[in-house]
Amino acid sequence: MNHLLSIEQLSAKEIVSLLESAAHLKRQRGRDGKPLDGQTWALIFTKSSTRTRVSFEVGIRELGGFPMFLSKNDIQLGRGEPIKDTARVLGRMVHGTIIRTFAQQDVVDFSEYSGIPTINALTDDEHPCQILADLLTINEKLGGWEGKKIAFIGDGFSNMTRSWMWAAKRLGFELAIASPVTCQPPAEFLTELNAPNVTVTTDPATAAKNADVINTDVWLSMGQEDQKDKELEFAGFQVNAGLLAAAAPGHIVLHCLPAYRGKEISEEVLELHANTIFQQAENRLHAQKAVLVAIAR
Ligand code: CP
Ligand code: NVA
Repeated sequence: MNHLLSIEQLSAKEIVSLLESAAHLKRQRGRDGKPLDGQTWALIFTKSSTRTRVSFEVGIRELGGFPMFLSKNDIQLGRGEPIKDTARVLGRMVHGTIIRTFAQQDVVDFSEYSGIPTINALTDDEHPCQILADLLTINEKLGGWEGKKIAFIGDGFSNMTRSWMWAAKRLGFELAIASPVTCQPPAEFLTELNAPNVTVTTDPATAAKNADVINTDVWLSMGQEDQKDKELEFAGFQVNAGLLAAAAPGHIVLHCLPAYRGKEISEEVLELHANTIFQQAENRLHAQKAVLVAIAR
């Protein structure tokens, strides 16, 4: 594995191996080797972040490396320097790069032009690091995804849904997505995915019925904050006690965070499932350390 650009590009074997490594690194935290000893890893972020930034900075340090955070305003990228030129400069100086931005193509271009390990820390298309942490949490809480039904209630067009759909394709679990009619996964994407285990409905109750995992995300992703009309489409799509009543016994609730209480999730449900949701947030650290170990040179 040279890069982590998407879940789409991972095989089932690679996903399982990363999760095993993450669980091992979690158990032995504080007794890490130093595979990144002497290395500098750049974090280029053109969108906000709490979890991703902190978990990568801490993880790189724990593995012996030095993180260098570069917001778009810190570097010439924010003034229009092309990503391919930024990549060719950083590729000659740092040992790896983690990028959070809008276009997936920018992450792909960076990996090609820089020649150094590159990690997608969220684009408009995918959020692979989050999915790895989510799968680790499902392993810990439910003993795995085999035979489990995973529901996603929310924006079917978002990076999280797309990464979940690729995870379902690779791993074979049942994924039921409930989205408003205007925010469903594009038909051409579903054709390309060709996964009979992924279903899409406009009815949250149908998706949540007998689900072992109920998953949600913000209604307006980063960059969409002014699309207040879009938010109106999500009436009836809140993860709340009523929706969970039909879920499977022993179900868990996941939220990648940040959460907007009273919108995609009720205060009551978030607090009732806070133990799982913040374990999920912590798992970002362990999952990403596994990715760093796998791709560092
Ligand atoms: N879930 C997630 O990626 O959180 P941040 O936006 O805070 O990094
Ligand atoms: N879909 C959300 C995920 C945040 C972690 C966004 O892109 O803003």
